[in-house]
Amino acid sequence: MTVIVHEDRAALVDRTAERLTALLAALIAERGHATIAVTGGSVGIALLAGLADRAIDWQRVRITWSDERYVVADSPDRNAVQAREALLDLVPIPAGNVRELPADDGTPLAEAAAAGTELLRDLGGIDLTLLGMGPDAHIASLFPGHPGVHESGVAVIGVTDSPKPPPSRLSFTVDAINASDRVWLVVAGADKAEAVALAHSGAPAAEAPAGVAQGRHETLMLLDAEAAALLEEGGR
Ligand code: 6PG
Repeated sequence: MTVIVHEDRAALVDRTAERLTALLAALIAERGHATIAVTGGSVGIALLAGLADRAIDWQRVRITWSDERYVVADSPDRNAVQAREALLDLVPIPAGNVRELPADDGTPLAEAAAAGTELLRDLGGIDLTLLGMGPDAHIASLFPGHPGVHESGVAVIGVTDSPKPPPSRLSFTVDAINASDRVWLVVAGADKAEAVALAHSGAPAAEAPAGVAQGRHETLMLLDAEAAALLEEGGR
């Protein structure tokens, strides 16, 4: 895991938007398209907003989500609704390129999760999974001490008891995250410093899910100075 520290939250968001724009350009130049799994949270949504004015060939970008709140499709709690407001409604991305995880239309959560796994199989590989991290070191909707962190064999699981509301979620598994070519954890704020240090120390998934996220080719921990405060200089 490579740690990159930016001076503050604004710089983290701006430089990560720049890094992501460059990655998308490189992937599109290389093979004509790019597929990314985005995330919610305040940093995740600010990052999406930071892409709105960049020169990106949106026709060639496909987007899905590394986790989603299992609520009705137009709920403001949905990461997808927030992403539309921040970015997707503002850029010329074809509707068919936006691949939301299912919304709650009355379908049982387990069936929605199976549909999510199918959706991911259909996408055929994720170039980059973006993740935020909670102060408890959770990523996506994989929470420390919860069984979801150990689920394997499927790409998307249902979570019914998220400690953070809303309680019902769909989430990439660790397997799905780690099947991505790249994983970027984007984290800001002093309240994350302990979790960053724990995840970076190699703590097990049950304790710090963020610590086991690993892309096939690249794993970046992109931080602001406050979130990095408890990392030892030499360890970065
Ligand atoms: C959720 C949150 C959460 C979030 C992290 C980071 O699903 O309830 O969105 O998973 O991504 O807590 O959030 P911040 O970027 O706001 O710190």
